[in-house]
Amino acid sequence: MSLILDEHREYLSDAARMAAYTAAIAEVVRAGDVVLDLGAGTGILGLLACRAGAHRVYAVDAGSMIEVAREVCCANGYEDRVTFVKKLSLDAELPERVDVIIADQIGRFGFDAGILEYFADARSRFLKPEGQLIPKRVRMWVAPVEAAALQNQVEFWLSQPAGFDFAPVRRYAANTGYPCRYAADQLLSAPQLGTALDLAVATDASFDFSASCRIVRAGILHGIGGWFDADLSDGVQMSNSPLSSQAINRRTLFFPVDRPVAVAAGDTVDVRMCVAPTDTLVTWKVAVRGKAAFTHSTWKGMLLSREKLAKTQPNYVPRLTRRGIARASVLGLCDGRTPLASIEEQMLHRYPDLFQSRQQAAVFVTEVVSAYGE
Ligand SMILES: C[S@@+](CC[C@H](N)C(=O)[O-])C[C@H]1O[C@@H](n2cnc3c(N)ncnc32)[C@H](O)[C@@H]1O
Repeated sequence: MSLILDEHREYLSDAARMAAYTAAIAEVVRAGDVVLDLGAGTGILGLLACRAGAHRVYAVDAGSMIEVAREVCCANGYEDRVTFVKKLSLDAELPERVDVIIADQIGRFGFDAGILEYFADARSRFLKPEGQLIPKRVRMWVAPVEAAALQNQVEFWLSQPAGFDFAPVRRYAANTGYPCRYAADQLLSAPQLGTALDLAVATDASFDFSASCRIVRAGILHGIGGWFDADLSDGVQMSNSPLSSQAINRRTLFFPVDRPVAVAAGDTVDVRMCVAPTDTLVTWKVAVRGKAAFTHSTWKGMLLSREKLAKTQPNYVPRLTRRGIARASVLGLCDGRTPLASIEEQMLHRYPDLFQSRQQAAVFVTEVVSAYGE
């Protein structure tokens, strides 16, 4: 079973998403353009660019889907126009600058699939001065939500599964963002704009935003909902908002508060969020004026062992493990002169404690060479 393939089937079968990208690409891509399809997956956005008249498409994907994209491209007769690059965009090099960069690395909340980091890098290294980005702007929206079932996912850890005390885990669970879908009536206020990210200038630096939400009906506040809308182009928007009739099929997020708070129409809920995009860290501070205040952070929800935490301290002196040393040896042997067979042979000879057979050495070498060799 290929879960990756199934994920891409879902992307392709999301009619609202496909319609939005089709329209935006038709609006932005001009005959003769050079296009970067960043995070190509099946290559669909590059194919749409070809159909819109792109002269050349660079389809960049770090994963094995790139082989699927290659086959699909041939099946559609565009192989003379698309160049495939199996690399993370941050590590990729292109032989020319492009007119348009296209990606769907928006995530559920507008920043959480890497678009800020990847576009900032691709913009500076690959985009022509007058080049265009799809999407060009992303907005992050928040609203207080009534979501007892989601809150129960936090409280589950107090339920003594199989009669054991799992209470220590609740602290992590309360500092985690949960993928979810909201019905419109779960929102306790009108959605408030957190921030608008202009991808033509945005960087991957940390940012924060505040929003004040006026409660419109009596209910129980369980947490804060988060989602996005994006301008794929000047004329085409795309969103996963629970209030959008054209919403794409992508989940939103739930950020819990430590305990439910009864709210009434007219109450104000102040939300402040701090976001560190490269580590996908979110801190959320929620104050129900006159009633309660909470601070949570995915930093506190990270499952870092004490040993791992110690390794993040500036005074920590790292040393290579035996496998690390072996890996460094393979990298040293990739000198542009030594054939693969000889590297495998030397590894087997140098590290008999790690490799009992040529086959084992070959697997290890292939892993390193496919990641860092060319
Ligand atoms: C959300 S899917 C989108 C696929 C396709 N563009 C689409 O719209 O259907 C993301 C794909 O991008 C790849 N990916 C994510 N970030 C990347 C990056 N910075 N460089 C290269 N590939 C990336 C993943 O391997 C995955 O195949």
